[in-house]
Amino acid sequence: MASPKETYERLRSTLNYHDELYYKKASPEIDDTTYDRLKKELEALLEKHPDLAVSQSDLFSVGDDRIEGFVTVRHKIPMLSLDNTYNKDAFIAFGKRLEKEFKDTKLQMTVEPKIDGVAVNISYENGRLVRAVTRGNGTEGDDITQNVSLIKELPKEIKNAPPYLEVRGEIYMRHDEFERINKLRLGDNLEPFKNPRNLAAGTVKLLDFQEAQRRRLNLVVYSVGYFEPSDFLHSQSMVQAQLSDWGFPVLEKFWLANNTEEAWSFIESLDNLRHGFAYPTDGAVIKVNDFTQQKELGFTAKAPKFAIAYKFEAEQLETILKDIHMQIGRTGAITPVAILEPIQLAGTTVSRATLHNEDEIIRKDIRIGDSVLVQKAGEIIPQVLSVNLEKRPNDSKAFNFSEHLKSLNIEARRDRSGSSWRIVASNDPSQRQRALLHFGSRSAMDIENLGTAITEQLVKNFNVISPADLYELSINDFLKLDKFKEKSATNLYESIQASKSQDLWRLIHGIGIPNVGKQAAKDLEKQFQSLDKLSQASVTDLIQIDGIGSTMAESIRAWFSVPDNQNMIQKLKRSGLHLESNITAKIQTSESALNQKTVVITGKFESMTRDEASELIESAGGRVSSSVSAKTDFLLAGEAAGSKLSKAQDLEITILDESAFKNLLES
Ligand code: IVH
Repeated sequence: MASPKETYERLRSTLNYHDELYYKKASPEIDDTTYDRLKKELEALLEKHPDLAVSQSDLFSVGDDRIEGFVTVRHKIPMLSLDNTYNKDAFIAFGKRLEKEFKDTKLQMTVEPKIDGVAVNISYENGRLVRAVTRGNGTEGDDITQNVSLIKELPKEIKNAPPYLEVRGEIYMRHDEFERINKLRLGDNLEPFKNPRNLAAGTVKLLDFQEAQRRRLNLVVYSVGYFEPSDFLHSQSMVQAQLSDWGFPVLEKFWLANNTEEAWSFIESLDNLRHGFAYPTDGAVIKVNDFTQQKELGFTAKAPKFAIAYKFEAEQLETILKDIHMQIGRTGAITPVAILEPIQLAGTTVSRATLHNEDEIIRKDIRIGDSVLVQKAGEIIPQVLSVNLEKRPNDSKAFNFSEHLKSLNIEARRDRSGSSWRIVASNDPSQRQRALLHFGSRSAMDIENLGTAITEQLVKNFNVISPADLYELSINDFLKLDKFKEKSATNLYESIQASKSQDLWRLIHGIGIPNVGKQAAKDLEKQFQSLDKLSQASVTDLIQIDGIGSTMAESIRAWFSVPDNQNMIQKLKRSGLHLESNITAKIQTSESALNQKTVVITGKFESMTRDEASELIESAGGRVSSSVSAKTDFLLAGEAAGSKLSKAQDLEITILDESAFKNLLES
């Protein structure tokens, strides 16, 4: 285990790294929640081992945004940070402590939105704007007056102002402006900016004034810094009203609470309203309203004791994109979906997010294995916003949409107008012929005589499009086939008609859903018992079935969403095929020791083929699996059994020879 000193050094250097990225480069790699968690870890460590604190930032930690090229200005009153919490109980405890402290006087608290922007201190002398300064390291910051004076709604002059006044607030960029700028950048083949906060932070620090003029920033102010004379503002609510009178852009809403419970209910109201605000918000700031009470409470080294930030759970977090699946809608439209390493986002676990379409994947260059930023806002489905390129694995490959569809055996075409892909049924004659051949094969519908030569003619001369058309052909039709006589035509006709009463799994296998083999078809029959029910199953329903993985599940959904395939099923129904299972009865009446058991078959047997053994197991309610695993109940082992036998022995799985198997069946 690491010593406290080692832990301290690890946390300190991690935090220094992220501070540099956030405050100086305005390009963070981690989200606020993760950062706050690291910070809390360091604080807890320092509480236990105060002697470890060596760095200034351990004691006075607001980061440092100062960079080369700017004039440094000392703040008359430091710009501190706020203690923050994500936890309701911690907030209630904060409120109750204050109530106790002021139990003999009236205590009011303001609840304000916490704006996620760039902090600024703006000073006025005799009502005239003189300077705008960043927070810097809390004690001194960078002079950004030139770029800030570009903000339209910032009053350059205020009436009825005191001789000296500082106002404090946040500079932010609106979403539409952020998107406008990124669109232009994309047009110029430039990397788009990551998010509006970073772009706002970068813009106030632009040394290129012309470029700064091309970007629109906004401002909202919520408090005052130093002011003279010092006795004309008495409370936070009074400050809000005064700022508004002076013509500053102020908070769209703030609340005045008479006790902790009321303050909590306002925090909840804020959470419901904040998405409609012009500026991005990430929490609530709760402050003691009265300035005399504020003074009485005072400060710690880092933050005021009269205020706290309650942060809303992150709505954007980074996680790993494990895979990309294709979701097929009812009309056959294909939507790519990101399969994520699950994360907690605004109160729910998110493990899937939409990737919209092929163009979005290309534009954002999203690859399997990437660290991606996922957002969940309001009721909207979670979406992947961007990729963290710094965390990209070295061996990652660009995602090729059409190749991926091919690997899933999904036949699809991209809409000529628009960017979506849609499933299509194949019109290729050789493929149709292969589909017929498969349908009639021994492992599917087992239709005797339906060989290559015949299926070729059926496709070419009779325009047989799908297997369902077979059932509409008459003896007369077959007489027209090459070399066909009365007897051969009748035989073919009869074997086709006889196949109508085949087991449902044979049909499920025969209709040719990509990736669905014989065993999967049997599993599906067992689970759904009817083709209609199977056709309505969602991917989620399907992957719950033992033996059905996500590729197969997606592939099944895809197949059933093709209108031509649905038509084929209707046609089969009209021709009188039995689309329901008759295995229920078999399983339920079975008392066999193999009922519900998983059996693997290996080697050769004297009295039966392996296919026959499978049928015996299945008719006894068991399931045949191809590989030995901890889930295997029995290994049926014949002559010359190989590695499966030794694996089963290692796993201590019951091994049956031919006669033990027969005994078990009869028991
Ligand atoms: S009052 C002593 N009110 O959040 C600090 N700050 O994490 C008093 N912020 O430094 C700040 N919205 O940059 C206050 N309504 C609000 C705020 C707010 C955003 C920022 C501010 C502060 C930081 C603390």
